[in-house]
Amino acid sequence: MKKRPNLLITGGAGYIGSHAVKEARKYGFQPITYDSLLMGHRWAVRDGVFVKGDLSNRAKLVQVFRKYKPAAVMHFASHLSVGESVANPQKYYRDNIGNALNLFSVMLEQKVNYFILSSTAAVYGNPVKVPMPENHPKNPINPYGDSKYILERILAWYDQAYGLKSTYLRYFNASGADVSGELGEDHHPEIHLIPLVLDAAAGLRKEITVFGTDYPTPDGTCIRDYIHVTDLAEAHFLALKRMMKTGKSDFFNLGTGKGYSVQQVIWMTEKVTGLKVPAKIGPRRPGDPPSLVAQSKKAQKVLGWKPKYSKLETILETAWRWHQKLHSGLKKKPV
Ligand code: UFG
Repeated sequence: MKKRPNLLITGGAGYIGSHAVKEARKYGFQPITYDSLLMGHRWAVRDGVFVKGDLSNRAKLVQVFRKYKPAAVMHFASHLSVGESVANPQKYYRDNIGNALNLFSVMLEQKVNYFILSSTAAVYGNPVKVPMPENHPKNPINPYGDSKYILERILAWYDQAYGLKSTYLRYFNASGADVSGELGEDHHPEIHLIPLVLDAAAGLRKEITVFGTDYPTPDGTCIRDYIHVTDLAEAHFLALKRMMKTGKSDFFNLGTGKGYSVQQVIWMTEKVTGLKVPAKIGPRRPGDPPSLVAQSKKAQKVLGWKPKYSKLETILETAWRWHQKLHSGLKKKPV
């Protein structure tokens, strides 16, 4: 039987990366996770090989490339908090860019030519058009989005100069959990709306604070495009397969094209859990655009990507199932 090509997945122990590791085999790849475990969890790596390592450790990366000879790299390892990036930009430029440059240099040296970048809707900044197409002006308003935009531009030049092919995937709001209940979100500290709302429903926090009710939206709260993490993971493989076939770099928005307000997320959570979500109104959070919704036609047309789990109700059902498991002491069980 033909051996599956190895796929290096940085950050494979993190939220989105671990869902990609789980999908890899279905698409014919053997996942090799490279993760420092600073943010990720060993229990989240459900398949393939696991190597504990930091991307700043070039010698270790070279060893891993020599040993596993990956056909391609999916790069998830990165800092992801918008608020933290504003307070501590050095961390974001140093790690998100510096570590990626290290990785690119090893890829070039070891002649690995295919790269998938976790990018973000935050590269666009404040929307001038909703839904946002891929050619929307890029004007990041925080160092997190800027660090990803810089990486996109570096990759465009590396393609031209060295033939390193890449696809950047601009995620909107990654959410939900593995449908079989094996994986899900577990950030410390948690900053994202859905897990915080579930904490409030479960009584693990007193309440959720709604950041602003005076936005120019129908109910005054911010609108976001929530996309299920397994749908996101699948798009990575469709993009990789296509890039390996065409030999061309590309970029895609990953969202549903439909937005929900913070208030609608709270209502749907009450419906799904059957529990009351205590909420209080707070001030706007600096740097939050009123509405972020993807124009997602390109990924659907070019990659044949069809989100399967991204109805808000399904996102919340899977997230809730995971939330209950996470808080019942099951999460640390080894695979
Ligand atoms: N929100 C609240 N209360 C909270 C937490 C969040 O009202 O306690 C609101 C936010 O103001 C925002 C919405 O819920 O309007 C979603 O907030 P998240 O923090 O869950 O997500 P963001 O939209 O701020 O950020 C996400 C990713 C970023 C990415 C960005 C791109 O986390 O990495 O989408 O759009 F950059």
